[in-house]
Amino acid sequence: MEIWGRQRHRVIVLGTPQAVCQKAADLFAESAIQAIAAHGRFTTALSGGSTPKALYKLLAVDKYRQIISWEKVFIFWGDERCVPPGHTDSNYRMTQDTLLSKVPIPKTNIFKMYPGGEQPTAAAAAYEQTLVQFFGLGPGEKPRFDLILLGLGHDGHTASLFPGSSAVDEKNLLVSACYVSTLASYRLTLTLPVLNAATRTVFLVTGDSKAQVLYDLVTGRNHPQEIPAQLVQPAGDLLVLADNAAARYLLN
Ligand code: 6PG
Repeated sequence: MEIWGRQRHRVIVLGTPQAVCQKAADLFAESAIQAIAAHGRFTTALSGGSTPKALYKLLAVDKYRQIISWEKVFIFWGDERCVPPGHTDSNYRMTQDTLLSKVPIPKTNIFKMYPGGEQPTAAAAAYEQTLVQFFGLGPGEKPRFDLILLGLGHDGHTASLFPGSSAVDEKNLLVSACYVSTLASYRLTLTLPVLNAATRTVFLVTGDSKAQVLYDLVTGRNHPQEIPAQLVQPAGDLLVLADNAAARYLLN
């Protein structure tokens, strides 16, 4: 079932988390094949957290492993926890364990957001330079990812753009470092100008705990300061893949 929200979200409701994962894998492969055909490479910024783990595992199985030209895939992250890359909280480690160690992608195509040990602001500046160099950006230009995957926190955050964070208001930097008081930890995040430049943006939202925030995101009920994810309004394709549990208020 498809629901169109007041904020341009095209919500595709699929019964189960497994169905969401399958659709997300199909979209990932479709985006990769289209981008590689169009401009010889596929650039993506991946989400962290728990929701995308099953997707990453699925992309590593034969069907997707074989149809995607992994040597032309370039992996970035939408956000990262400021922990060593081998830490159990690291989005890099999660993605490495579920996908990147299982597909033939050159290590030089993988761009860690937090290599470990740096001061958060220095790490953010370094990743910004990585984006500038990789995308060949001039002053004020933003990188245009072919696909950005995002999750949705029950508090309305996405990537590491949390309610009340100064990173939400960042209009110039491409990457911001922020201290998340509710988590008592530092995070790095792509900023909204980067998120809103993507060719295709896909939110993955599953589970009962996301029902209210998904309803608020899609209906535009709350003010964006309370739901930073509402500020993700890319000119490109904006999709939300949700299971019945997360979409239950939208379905009634
Ligand atoms: C992270 C993510 C974050 C995540 C949401 C939802 O680093 O944790 O990038 O934005 O997508 O917190 O997380 P779950 O998928 O675990 O619910």
